[in-house]
Amino acid sequence: MNPPPPWLRTTNDFWPLCASLLLAGGLLWLQPAREISALLLGLGYLGLCLHYWRQHRAANPDAHTPPGELLIAYASQGGQAQQLAEQSRAQLAAAGLPARCLALNQLSLERLRQSTRVIFVVSTYGEGEAPDNAARFERQLLARQPALADLQYAILALGDSHYRQFCAFGKRLDSRLRALQAQPLFDLLQLDRGAPASLRHWQQQLGHISGDSAFVDWQPAHYQPWQLQRRAHLNPGSSGAPLYHLSLRGPTAEMRWQAGDIVEIGPRQPPQRVNAWLHSYGLDPATPLADGQTLGEALSRRQLPDTLAMAAEASPAQLLASLAPLPHREYSIASSSACGQLELLVRQHYQAEGQPGLGSGWLCQYAALGGSIDLRIRSNPAFHGPTTAAPLILIGSGSGMAGLRAHLLERQHLGQPGHWLLFGERNAARDRCFDDQLQAWLASGHLARLDRAFSRDQEQRVYVQHLLRDAADELRAWLARDACLLVCGSLEGMGREVDAMLHGLLGRDNLDALRSSGRYRRDLY
Ligand SMILES: Cc1cc2nc3c(=O)[nH]c(=O)nc-3n(C[C@H](O)[C@H](O)[C@H](O)COP(=O)(O)OP(=O)(O)OC[C@H]3O[C@@H](n4cnc5c(N)ncnc54)[C@H](O)[C@@H]3O)c2cc1C
Ligand SMILES: Cc1cc2nc3c(=O)[nH]c(=O)nc-3n(C[C@H](O)[C@H](O)[C@H](O)COP(=O)(O)O)c2cc1C
Repeated sequence: MNPPPPWLRTTNDFWPLCASLLLAGGLLWLQPAREISALLLGLGYLGLCLHYWRQHRAANPDAHTPPGELLIAYASQGGQAQQLAEQSRAQLAAAGLPARCLALNQLSLERLRQSTRVIFVVSTYGEGEAPDNAARFERQLLARQPALADLQYAILALGDSHYRQFCAFGKRLDSRLRALQAQPLFDLLQLDRGAPASLRHWQQQLGHISGDSAFVDWQPAHYQPWQLQRRAHLNPGSSGAPLYHLSLRGPTAEMRWQAGDIVEIGPRQPPQRVNAWLHSYGLDPATPLADGQTLGEALSRRQLPDTLAMAAEASPAQLLASLAPLPHREYSIASSSACGQLELLVRQHYQAEGQPGLGSGWLCQYAALGGSIDLRIRSNPAFHGPTTAAPLILIGSGSGMAGLRAHLLERQHLGQPGHWLLFGERNAARDRCFDDQLQAWLASGHLARLDRAFSRDQEQRVYVQHLLRDAADELRAWLARDACLLVCGSLEGMGREVDAMLHGLLGRDNLDALRSSGRYRRDLY
């Protein structure tokens, strides 16, 4: 087909032109003064152009959004991904981060290339295919090679694990973006049939992106009451923030989990804060409620705004209903269920104004020993160990010891020795967490090798990725013996640097192959 003449580039130009011709015809017939005709004709054409430009803009938001704006691109056949994209946009907007939703087909490669952060919420259709409103985008992304080194992205992949090609489109998108040098903000999150716990995890990730942790869980967890039995400060005198080792007992003896699993906890406000807040409104924390709780107890699970517009005659129940529940927090389990105790390793986090973080403050400072913790176990298959007795190469730093220790304890219970731990902390004098246990494992052969980087013990900073670099030949030899890489701890700093080092040492294709065969697994936060 011949291209349209330059004066008729799109069909949208065609209709205003026709309408203007009609108007011109009408004017000729009526024969008003020539100046008035020209003015009316011009205004008519302009008005119609404006009308069609607006229609065009609504259909192609991509072309008109400012380059710095956060985009949320969805691929949705039945509407679920689109709805989650919209909910994600609302959470980010509530945190003061404006974002724009658009269907993936509306996102041009040029716009993608100019973007610094894009969130993808994508479902899979047919047999592992992209939904209709994303298929053209996928074809273009595969056919061309846009340079995406400046792009950071996160993907929520919707799917159903009953299908053979589970979340296949999300996985393909992830792997293509990585190949084009785009930087994942988090590992791909797979949402199996809308699992509420995965949605809560996604909300945590949005919290990281917006820097605001006070979101409201879309589907709050059904917690169980666990008892806090022990809390030990592991690193007194450390130059880093305090690290605590917590032990909890479940409501029944049958509580089970796998190494790699996560707990979601329901934090509570410190009692002093709740009491002061209620007193400031002239209310008594001891006021009994219909469900047997006191007003103070019920409010400890709610967000307490600095100012509250409340009618003087509002009842305690109305007050409660007007306050949003607190969001959950997640922690890697640090023990094996064979130990009988659920253990956590929690770093005390401080917010910008110096007050303790919501979750870590509750667990490390305010929750009473012997008291109850709202807790729920979330299965995390992405960080489960291999089903074989393959050796593990465990890499991490700081509170990342939690997830790695759970794997070592689980393998000990299974009678599968011979693993390699590469671990980073600050100073040998203050931060040798679990040193006795690690030395005993080294002596017994449960650990075949232990490498630790104490970053601040010498002038030149040494981190866990440097340990990997120095042991590159050994690393390749272990991988040749089917070893499985497990990385746990902070994403910024440790997780990204380790990934970059592995990339350099093993090559992108090899690392991708390890990832897709489940031999490179990560629990990063
Ligand atoms: C899968 C997973 C496993 C985890 N395991 C552990 C663990 O074993 N031990 C441990 O100590 N912690 C762990 N964390 C971190 C933990 O969930 C909390 O984020 C941390 O305790 C701080 O939360 P807070 O409520 O005390 O602080 P708050 O300040 O109340 O909230 C912190 C929250 O704010 C958001 N946020 C805002 N800005 C940032 C930022 N710059 N960096 C990070 N988050 C930001 C995040 O959503 C974060 O959850 C894990 C997180 C995840 C997602
Ligand atoms: C006809 C059909 C085919 C599907 N094929 C797959 C598939 O191959 N892999 C997968 O993980 N999920 C598959 N799903 C599940 C959808 O991805 C899942 O239901 C998703 O939540 C739908 O989101 P949407 O409403 O945004 O399209 C399929 C669903 C339907 C109805």
